Amino acid sequence: MIVLGIETSCDETAGALVEDGRRVMASVVYSQVAAHRPHGGVVPEIASREHAARLPDVVAETLRQAAIPWSRIDAVAVTYGPGLASSLLVGLAGAKALALRCGIELIGVHHLEAHLISVFLDRRAPTAETLLPARALIVSGGHTSLLRVERNGTYRCLGRTRDDAAGEAFDKGAVLLELGYPGGPAIEKAARGGNPRAVPFPRGLQRRRRMADGRDSRYDFSFSGLKTALLYYLRDQSQKVAATERQRADIAASYQEAIVDVLVSKTMTGLQDERAVLMAGGVALNGRLREAMAGAAARQGVRCIAPPAVYCADNAAMIAALAGRGGGRRVDAVGELDAQPSLIFERGRLWA
Ligand code: KG4
Ligand code: ZN
Repeated sequence: MIVLGIETSCDETAGALVEDGRRVMASVVYSQVAAHRPHGGVVPEIASREHAARLPDVVAETLRQAAIPWSRIDAVAVTYGPGLASSLLVGLAGAKALALRCGIELIGVHHLEAHLISVFLDRRAPTAETLLPARALIVSGGHTSLLRVERNGTYRCLGRTRDDAAGEAFDKGAVLLELGYPGGPAIEKAARGGNPRAVPFPRGLQRRRRMADGRDSRYDFSFSGLKTALLYYLRDQSQKVAATERQRADIAASYQEAIVDVLVSKTMTGLQDERAVLMAGGVALNGRLREAMAGAAARQGVRCIAPPAVYCADNAAMIAALAGRGGGRRVDAVGELDAQPSLIFERGRLWA
């Protein structure tokens, strides 16, 4: 089964063709980062206009790279949530039109489930059977979720962020440090050679408490206190901070370490029969996070797997892969699929 995937939930306009949920025939990502950079973050209005302007070319380029005709495509899969409403609508409109025009199936995909499946897109990745049950961490600009994934592909969300997402913490920190946008790669670069213990930034939500819904509070994340701590630190140190590269590296390294430390320690908390730790999303590109998670996993005797770099940040290969494995919502009529900007991530099934 060959699936055309379309992704427009945030600031990447992406198309991909994936065979049987595994073999990526083509993956094209148009990053809008240059359009949003002057504003220091994603501007929804600009994002949807860019999607509308780029999607036709991105889809055409995807087919060209895969070198297949429309007639070989069996289904169109598209992200229907969560994401920016006006951006999701562009992808949905395009996917619906293509499904109708070609007389093929339309499949709605949950963006975060797709991030989770991206772990299996690496051809050299171990099979799901050898990695599950697993603990999974999804860390992006808009989301931070910790999950348990069962052998049969069902999953349950253990915890999530109560305020900023991990990527947002990087992005907002970079604004305060005047490092530019996007903040994750900028902070990682600025942190090189810095001392991660130079500034004792706070690690949020460490206390264990059973919450009203029965979940353990240790699995939730909070990054807004960290951002405030950086703000106050810079204000109090303002004379000295601008002084040397070295000090900037120390602050960036300490800030990065506070985020990484929280992500790793919560991911490792309460492991039982899990055989692996899976990481996905744009923040999983972070070298320090990969290194720290791999070290912690090795100490606990579990494997640590992240997607290849090209499938960490938003892409459409993960959308098509999920649909190709029988995941997502298969709809009978195109009118059945609507954008769900605030789609939640609680429990679900990754593949049929
Ligand atoms: O998955 P993604 O492309 O988009 C969302 O679904 O949100 O993730 C984007 C986020 C941004 O916040 C960006 O700063 C962060 O991923 N990011 C990084 C790195 N590269 C991207 N964060 C830390 N270190 C990186 N190297
Ligand atoms: Zn994403």
